Formats: sequence, structure tokens, C-alpha cells
Amino acid sequence: MGVQDKRENLVRAPAQPDQSGRIRERNDNSAGNGDGGTDNKNRATDNKTTEVENVNGIDLRCGDALEELKTLPDGLVDLVLTDPPYNIGLQETRAGSKAMAAWDKIENYTDWCIEWLNECSRVLKPNGVLYFWHNDMAQIAELLHETAKKTDLVLVSFCIWDKGDTYRAKAWKQRDPEGTTALRSWFNVCEYCLHFFKAPKAAGAAWRATGLDRINSNPECYKPIKDWYKSELDRLGITTQTVAKKYTAVTGKKPYMLGHYFCDSQFEIPTREIWDAVYRPLGFGKEYEELRKEYEELRKEYEELRNYHRCDDMHCNIWHEPPIPSTGRLHTCQKPVKILRRLIRVSCRPGGTVLDCFMGSWSAGEAAILEGRSFIGIERDAEYFEIARKRLETVNNQERIYGM
Ligand SMILES: C[S@@+](CC[C@H](N)C(=O)[O-])C[C@H]1O[C@@H](n2cnc3c(N)ncnc32)[C@H](O)[C@@H]1O
Repeated sequence: MGVQDKRENLVRAPAQPDQSGRIRERNDNSAGNGDGGTDNKNRATDNKTTEVENVNGIDLRCGDALEELKTLPDGLVDLVLTDPPYNIGLQETRAGSKAMAAWDKIENYTDWCIEWLNECSRVLKPNGVLYFWHNDMAQIAELLHETAKKTDLVLVSFCIWDKGDTYRAKAWKQRDPEGTTALRSWFNVCEYCLHFFKAPKAAGAAWRATGLDRINSNPECYKPIKDWYKSELDRLGITTQTVAKKYTAVTGKKPYMLGHYFCDSQFEIPTREIWDAVYRPLGFGKEYEELRKEYEELRKEYEELRNYHRCDDMHCNIWHEPPIPSTGRLHTCQKPVKILRRLIRVSCRPGGTVLDCFMGSWSAGEAAILEGRSFIGIERDAEYFEIARKRLETVNNQERIYGM
């Protein structure tokens, strides 16, 4: 579904509670479990899961991430874009009072993360992409170590949201002009976003780093061209050694490149010059243009097998974006929709599905809908879930009023 189609759908039928049973109450004890360290008031009320059913590509669930993830089928989503608790004893302000955010402290944190990461990996398509946010380097180090050992996720980039020269960073020096008693380390003005590809453990190093090998070294890819090449050798009554000798005679080079032409390892077709000077004189029956067109058509098909990544302007791993001002902020850890929209454009196929299993105030949901992708969001805290649902209604209303 294109962006425009999705917007029209949103205008026609906003996802909000109505008489048609779009919001379902489940009483299945599934919500609120599995955190090992939060109190009941932060759980979905009375162990019920309130679920906004899939309406116009938006599926919001109020429940525990692990429990809800287990209800999703394998290979459903293109992109997981999520922001889990950082386990740092975060302070949050609610109803005018500051308190430790109970949802942010979790026992056996690394094990718990590996559990939800493995569930996300299962729910991802075989070429899916996953990002998660964090800001505590010591825990990130442990998580990366365990993720590499215990999941099918491979780290691709370590990205930084640079919040700029914030007032809080400047204020330390104003408080302590001599600079003797202030911070004992550098004040942190960034958050980290870890970027992974789903790739099977058996995949080669090149695939695990870039997803590239998936096409060029997969024996199944370009099989029609490879089979045609073998049938031509048979028809002409020659072997690859004949081709190698001719190649060396014409180019003066050792025939190392022939190890890639028409082969399973880093498959390539020859250049036009080599085709016309080596293969055609030996009797291979296709014009270069015919071979190239066939290759391009297959390449497009196989590109779909790769982990999705599209380049954009200033394509680097540091993202400069000011923090969300505290006035009007919907969540203590709210992420800028501008960054999330960019991640979705870069890492999720048009019309694909984005999952955020720690949805908070629905920032990733808003980004997904504005980018024309479907969205599945899970949030355990009933208050945040309500904020998320209101935010969805606001976007729907803006759609209706302004035709955003
Ligand atoms: C870091 S915040 C996400 C904020 C979000 N990125 C935003 O922009 O609003 C993490 C969220 O995960 C929720 N959470 C914590 N444990 C959870 C669990 N086991 N299942 C589902 N949600 C959980 C918390 O209530 C919190 O809202």
C-alpha cells in the first residue's frame, strides 16, 4: 500500500474505539508478566490486555512485550524499531512528582533482553532489520557480546543520536566555574542506536556484515545463467580450462576472475570487453546485451532477498537532532519522530511492517504511519498506552483536517 493509499485509509476509518469491537479486552493473564522487577501499578490494568485490533495497518497492544510477541507469527515484520528500558534507574515525572521509573529496572536484564531479541528475530522476515536504542555503555557491551552468541542478529552499525550542546551540558561549568568539583566524567549528550541484520549463524562473514553475499554467493541465485553457461560448455565440447587459456592468451592475466564468472563464489558476469574478446570467439551463443539484461532482471529479483538498506543524504552514523523539549513531552524517553522516519525510510521496504515492542508514547508508530508503513506496537503501561492511543487519534484527526 502506498503512502497516499494508507493516508486515505486513515482518513476514512481512524483506528479508535467504536462499537464494532475494534478494541478488545482479553483476560488471559498474559499482561504484566516477565519483567522480574516492576510493580503492579505499571502493568496493564487487572492483568487484562487491551488490544486495538489491526485497523488500517495499525495494531496496538497493551500488554507485556514477551507475551504479546509470542502471539505473532514467524516472519511477519520487515523492521523492528524499538526502545527498551535501559535498566539505569531512570527518573520520570508523572502528575507533578518525580520518581524512579519502575519499568526501567529489570532483574536479569541481559537474559531478558536476549529473550525479547530472539522473539523479535523470529517475528522478523528472514532478511529483516532491527534497531534498538540504549544509552548505557557497560550494558551495551554485555548485550552486544550476548547478542552475537545467542541470537541470529548481526551488528551492522553503532549509531549515535547527538543532542547537541544542550543547556544541561553547559550548566555544569556555570555551577562550578573552577571546574574542580563538578562532573567526574563527560556529561552524556547522546543516545545510541544499535543496528542489526537478521542473518543465520551459518551465513558467511560477508553476508553477516552486509547482506551482500546472500545474492552473489548463494548457489541458488543466478542459477538460470549458470545452467545456461554449463550447457554452452557441453554444446561447444569445451571445458572451463579452454576458457581460462583463451582468457590468458587475450588479456595476458592469470584467470583468477574466472573463479567468479558464472560460479557460486561472488558470482559475476564478465565485462563486455572480456565477453566479446574471450567468450564470443569460443562460440558462446548470446550477445552481451542479452546476457546483461537477463542478469539485471535476476539481480532485481534477488535484491529482495537482501536485508533492506537505502542510502540517503549525509548517510553516516551520527544523527544531529536536538532533544525533545520537556514541555509537551509525552514520554521521559521520547524519541524524535524525524529520526525514526528516516530509519524507516532507510531500513523498511515501502509498504512493509514496523514493530515496536516497547512503544511508550507511539513515536515509532507515528513515524511508520507517516511513512506509509504498517505498525505493530506493544506497551505494558496502561497510562502510556492511553497516551499512545490519543496520539494516534490526533494524527488521524490531522489527517482528516489537514490531509497531511
Ligand atoms: C524507553 S521507553 C519507550 C519510549 C518511546 N520510544 C517513546 O518515544 O515514547 C520504554 C517503554 O517500554 C515499556 N515497557 C517496559 N517493560 C515492558 C514490557 N515488559 N512489555 C511492554 N512494555 C514495556 C515502558 O512502560 C516504557 O513506556
